[in-house]
Amino acid sequence: MLNLKSVDLKKEKIEALVIPVCEDTNIHQDQTIRSLIKNAQKVKAFKGDKDDEVVLYNLPKINAQSIIFLGLGKLEKVDMESLRTMAGKAVKGVIKKKHTAVLIAVPLAEKIKIDIQNILEAMMEGAFLGNHLFDKYKKEKKLHPLKRIDFLVTSHEAKTYQSLPSRISTVCQGTILAREWVSMPPNDKRPELFAQSIARLARKENLKVTVLSEKELKQKKLGAMLAVAAGSSNKPNMVILEYNPLNAKKTIAFVGKGVTFDSGGINLKPTASLADMKMDMSGAAAVAATLITSARLNLSIKLLGVIPIVENMPSGAASRPGDIIKSYDGKTVEIGNTDAEGRLILIDAISYTIKKYRPQTLIDLATLTGACVVALGEKIAGIFSFDDKLAENIILSGQKTHERCWRMPMPDDYKELIKSDFADLNNVGSTRYGGAITAALFLSEFVEDTSWAHIDIAGPAYAKKESSYCGVGGTGFGVRLLLDVMERLYP
Ligand code: BES
Ligand code: ZN
Ligand code: ZN
Repeated sequence: MLNLKSVDLKKEKIEALVIPVCEDTNIHQDQTIRSLIKNAQKVKAFKGDKDDEVVLYNLPKINAQSIIFLGLGKLEKVDMESLRTMAGKAVKGVIKKKHTAVLIAVPLAEKIKIDIQNILEAMMEGAFLGNHLFDKYKKEKKLHPLKRIDFLVTSHEAKTYQSLPSRISTVCQGTILAREWVSMPPNDKRPELFAQSIARLARKENLKVTVLSEKELKQKKLGAMLAVAAGSSNKPNMVILEYNPLNAKKTIAFVGKGVTFDSGGINLKPTASLADMKMDMSGAAAVAATLITSARLNLSIKLLGVIPIVENMPSGAASRPGDIIKSYDGKTVEIGNTDAEGRLILIDAISYTIKKYRPQTLIDLATLTGACVVALGEKIAGIFSFDDKLAENIILSGQKTHERCWRMPMPDDYKELIKSDFADLNNVGSTRYGGAITAALFLSEFVEDTSWAHIDIAGPAYAKKESSYCGVGGTGFGVRLLLDVMERLYP
């Protein structure tokens, strides 16, 4: 779908042409584009200010049905994210005009002082992700994604970066895979169904796939995970994905929270908080999509994806507040609140991963706490780690991909808050403050000496409003982030 194209605009037949414009500087080399921009700037309302937009039809000397001019604002403010946003908006606008293809003019790298490869990556990401529509559950499909997204570059650039479109498509398909799993309604992704869906796609990419059934989870004594699953008639599964390229030595393990619906259990959530709790498997979706994408990209790092999948429901068989359970690691946990279920399934998945596979690095992704959303808002993930280097790499990847992460503290004295009078630990803190931190500290009791990071994605995993390159629903947060982290850890 993505292509780099070097063409003579005067000779080409074009459906929709998109031209990004800065308000204070010309950023295009092509003479035809420059004169088109002059036409656009005759329209008084259009200066090229950020978010300005004007569409012109049937201009002379060019065979294009619509020409869309998009403002980028001041030159010095242009960064990778504004290019992503511009490209996403361009594609969405063109879809609404019922076109089937678009040609987007790429600005000059010397002018906007971003490496040309980064310019192309950002624009391709915004365009590809903006072209995704989740309408599987609609009888009538009102809009149709574009069939072709072309980028106008020089012939030299087209040649140098010829492999980029396919790589970016693969990465973005990974994000979209995660988005669709997250947006899928919970009746269609009960734990065993979700596990099968992951397993089927992973096997296609030749990953080694193991699905632990409820019976096996019982035999292996994953008691914390089973305690969460107990209330639901839909049985739990744990999916283990292994990517084992030749000659790779070090292993990175990813663990993803897979609660296909979080009702809160006996500590039932209030109505407003129940909405969208189908998204509580976003960590699982991101981990599964990252492994599948790594295989498609042929990366040369050994990877492990461990994905505990349960449904958290109230019933006569459900765990109660006050229950004491034994985790896989052997530590006992008093269930202070059945709605703090994520950390229970994660500790068993983390202990199991460490004891069985001994990875060099372990990163878990989870929609773990509402408290993290209170602290950082809906667009930034919290990162918790004792390993400064690992945390720094994740933060840098967050800046590059705009899947932003902010480091949070894990002070030793806060461990006081998760003590239990009767068991080794309590699954909730004794005060309502600092909930994202106490959750992370709880997990830290199970990581032994492994280099570990926990990413709380409760805010950014799900979008309640449409934005320039993401619709309402799952955002796929974590896939582009983790793929970039891997490149940094093992370049
Ligand atoms: N799945 C929720 C966290 C969540 C909240 C995700 C909002 C996305 C949006 C988690 O299982 C939960 O319920 N956490 C509780 C913990 C509390 C009982 C200590 C919370 O955050 O309120
Ligand atoms: Zn919960
Ligand atoms: Zn949850």
